[in-house]
Amino acid sequence: MGQPSAAPVPSLALRGTLLDCVADPFFVPAAEAVRYVPDGLLVVENGHIAALGPFTDLQDPYAHLPLVDYSGHLIMPGFIDTHVHYPQTGMIAAYGAQLLEWLNQYTFPTERQFQDPSHARRIADLFLDELLKNGTTTALVFAAVFPESVEAFFEAALARNLRMISGKVLMDRHAPDYLRDTPQTGYAQSKALIEKWHGRGRLAYAVTPRFAATSTEAQLKAAAQLLDEFPDLYLHTHLSENVNEVAWIRELFPQYDGYLDVYDQTGLVRERSVFAHGVQITEAEFRRLSEAKAAISFCPTSNLFLGSGLFRLDRAKSAASPVKVGLGTDVGAGTSFSLLQTANEAYKVAQLRRQALSPFQALFLATLGGAQALCLEDKIGSFNPGNEADIIVLNPRATPLLALRNQAPITADLATVADALFSLLIMGDDRAVAATYILGQRFSP
Ligand code: GUN
Ligand code: ZN
Repeated sequence: MGQPSAAPVPSLALRGTLLDCVADPFFVPAAEAVRYVPDGLLVVENGHIAALGPFTDLQDPYAHLPLVDYSGHLIMPGFIDTHVHYPQTGMIAAYGAQLLEWLNQYTFPTERQFQDPSHARRIADLFLDELLKNGTTTALVFAAVFPESVEAFFEAALARNLRMISGKVLMDRHAPDYLRDTPQTGYAQSKALIEKWHGRGRLAYAVTPRFAATSTEAQLKAAAQLLDEFPDLYLHTHLSENVNEVAWIRELFPQYDGYLDVYDQTGLVRERSVFAHGVQITEAEFRRLSEAKAAISFCPTSNLFLGSGLFRLDRAKSAASPVKVGLGTDVGAGTSFSLLQTANEAYKVAQLRRQALSPFQALFLATLGGAQALCLEDKIGSFNPGNEADIIVLNPRATPLLALRNQAPITADLATVADALFSLLIMGDDRAVAATYILGQRFSP
C-alpha cells in the first residue's frame, strides 16, 4: 500500500439530471445559484470535468466516449464533510452523556486503540468505504494523537485516489497519560507527517489541536508555528460547542477575552482555519471569523445528539459579515455518515430557530459551501470544467417510500427538482446513492 492505484485515467460521459451550485443561494436567488440541466450530459476527460450541457447538444461531439445512462437520477458533485473523526467510527451512538463526560467516558479509551497501525488501517479502510457509500468524496478528518493513526489514514486515502485532509491530534493536558503529547513532541511529529504527506496525491495536512482545553498555550503557539512554516496547511479544531466547555475555557485562560480569542492570540485564526461547531459563539466572535475568512463546520446531528445547542446559521450567513460554513457529520458524536441525513437535521435545527433552510441552500452547504470552507472551490464542489470529477448519482426512487413520494417527473421547472432534492435530503441516506465516482472512476468497495 501507499501508492495510488494504477488504474487508467478515465474518460466517460454521464447522462442524467445535472444539478450543482455555482454561487451561494443564501445570498443570490436560486435561479442564479443553481445550475440545472434536466436531461444533461456530464463529460469527464482524464478524471476531470470537461463539459456539461443538454444531452441533445453534447451527444454528438462526445459520441466517442463511453456513455453511462443515469436518466431519472440526479448527478451532483460529491459531498464534502468538513468535520469528522475517523477513530470514532466504532463508537458512534454512545449513550447518555454531554460533551465533556462523553469525551472521558467513551472517546479517549476508543482513541487509545489507534496506536496500533493495523487497527488504525482497518478502521481507516472501513471509514473511507462508508464515506464513499454515502456519497462523500472529500472530508476534513481528525485522526488520533498517534502519528501511526495519520499514516494509516493517508495510506488508505491515497490508495483510493481521494482528496482528503487530516492531521495528528495535539493534546498535552486534560487527557489520560496514554493520549498526551508535549508541545515539543506534538510539533516534531506533526512536522514529520507534513513533510511526508502534505501535497502528496490529493492529500493535505491539517494542524489539529483537539480544543483549547486539551492544549497548553505553548502547544497552541507551536501549532501556529507550523502554519507559519509550511504553505497551505489547514488548522482544524473545535470551538464553543457546549456551555460547560465554554465556561471551562474561560477558567483555563482567564487572561484571554473568550474562547475564540485564545485561538486568535496564539495565531490560529486564519483563512484556512476550520472550527467545528461554534454553537455558543458571540456576535463579536462571528465578526472576527468573518474578518479572518475562517470557516465553521456546522454539525447538526452531533449538536442534537450531545445536546449542545442550535447553531445560528442565519447569523453566519448575514450579508454584513458572513462566515463560511460547511456541513460536518462529526461522527462519533454525529449519528450518521450521510450528508443527506446531516442536511435533514440542519433543516430541523433551522426550523427550531424559526428559519427555513431551502433544499438548494442545503445542497450548497454539502457541496460548494464545503469546498469554499476548505478553500478548494477551484477543484471540487461544482461541475465547473477543469474541476476534479468526484461525482455522485442519487436515485430519487431508491426506496419504496421515496418512489411513492417522487412519482411526479422532474421537469424543466426548477421547483420540481427542488422538491425531489428536498425529499432526498429528508428521507435519503446511503441507499439513495446509486454511484460514487472518484476522479471519474466508479467506486466499488
Ligand atoms: N471537543 C473536543 N474533542 C471533541 C470530539 O472528539 N468531538 C466533539 N464533538 N467535540 C469535541
Ligand atoms: Zn468533532
